[in-house]
Amino acid sequence: MNTKVWKVDKYVDKLESNPHIVDAAQFLRENEVVALPTETVYGLGGNAESDAAVAKIFAAKGRPGDNPLIIHIADKSQLDRFVTEVPAKAEALIAAFWPGPLTIIFKMKPGVLSEKATAGLDTVAVRMPDHPVALALFKQSGLPIAAPSANSSGKPSPTTAAHVMDDLNGKIAAVLDGGATGVGVESTVVDCTEEVPVILRPGGVSREQLEAAIGEVLVDPGLTNVKEATRPKAPGMKYRHYAPNAPLYLVSGTRGFLQSLVAEKQREGLRVGVLTTEEYQDEFTADVVLACGSRAQLETVAAALYDTLRKFNQMEVEIIFSEIFPTSGVGLAIMNRLQKAAGNKVITE
Ligand code: TXA
Ligand code: MG
Repeated sequence: MNTKVWKVDKYVDKLESNPHIVDAAQFLRENEVVALPTETVYGLGGNAESDAAVAKIFAAKGRPGDNPLIIHIADKSQLDRFVTEVPAKAEALIAAFWPGPLTIIFKMKPGVLSEKATAGLDTVAVRMPDHPVALALFKQSGLPIAAPSANSSGKPSPTTAAHVMDDLNGKIAAVLDGGATGVGVESTVVDCTEEVPVILRPGGVSREQLEAAIGEVLVDPGLTNVKEATRPKAPGMKYRHYAPNAPLYLVSGTRGFLQSLVAEKQREGLRVGVLTTEEYQDEFTADVVLACGSRAQLETVAAALYDTLRKFNQMEVEIIFSEIFPTSGVGLAIMNRLQKAAGNKVITE
C-alpha cells in the first residue's frame, strides 16, 4: 500500500472543506485507516462501527486484540448512540476538559460499536481531542472513530507525522500531517463507571486538575505500585510500551551517581546515552546526551519525551540512563511512561 502523506495547516479556516480532509474522511467511510494529529499524540483512526476497519488498525500496529481502543468524537451528542448513561461527575468532567486530553470510560450500549474495538468489554473509552484537524476529519466522516496511538505496538507513541511514517509507512492509507503535537503524552483515562472516578492511565490532564473539577479521584493502584500483584485496570497498561531499542534505566540519586554509571558502562565498551534536561545537559559526559525539555516546566518534558526516546534509536546507543522526575501535575504521566519504557528498571544510589 502506498501511504499518502497530506500536509494540513491547522490554522486555516473551514478545514472541513480542505481537500485532504475530505479525501481522508472518504477513506474512513470506506473502512480504510488514516493517521491523524491530536493535541496529545498522533492517532490511527478507523470507523469504530466496522470490524473490518478496526481489524486494519490492530494489524497495522501489531496490537494485541485484548487491548481496547479509545472512541473519538467531534460532538458530545454522538455519545447517546453508544453510551448508556452520562453520570453527573462525567458531565462535569466533559464540561471542564472536552475537547482536551481526557478519556472517559462509560457503560456501553451493546451492538453499536465493533466488538473488536472495545475488546468485548461492556464499557467504552471516549474522548474528544482538542485539535482542529482531528475534529474536522471526524465531523466530515460522520462516524465515531476508533484511534489508538499511531505507532507500532510497544514503540514510543508518535508526536510527528515522520514518527508515524517510520512505523507505519506502507501499512495505512494516509497520514494527515498537522505538525508536531503539543501535549506529547497521551490522554488521561478516567473510569467514571464507579462512584469515585479512578485514573486508569495518567496523561495530559493531571489528577490535581480532575480533583479541582469534581473532588476525590483515585489512581489505579496497579499503576503506581510496580510490585503490587494487582493488574492495571486499563488493559493496555500491562504491556511493555514506549520502549527505545536499548535498555533504559531510571536513576534515582545524584547526577554524580548517574555519571559514575555512565563511566562504568563506557569502560565495558558500551555506547551510552543519557536522558536529561536543559538544566543539566552540560553536566554529563556520555556518547549521546539528550535534553528532554526543561525540568522547571514539566509540560516541556512531556512534549519532548517520545521524540527523545526515538532519537536514542537513531543514535544507536546500547544502554540509556535517565533522570527521574517529580510526579506532580503531568509528571505522573511522564514517570508512568518512563517506568514502562524502562520495564521498571530503577537504579537507586
Ligand atoms: O491521547 C490519546 O489517548 C491517544 C490519541 C490518539 O487520542 N490515544 C491512545 O490510545 O493513547 P491507545 O490505544 O494507545 O491507548 C488507549 C488506552 C489503553 O491503555 C487501553 O487499554 C485503555 O485506553 N482503554 C480503552 N478502552 C478501555 C476500557 N473500556 N476500559 C479500560 N481501559 C480502556
Ligand atoms: Mg498507545
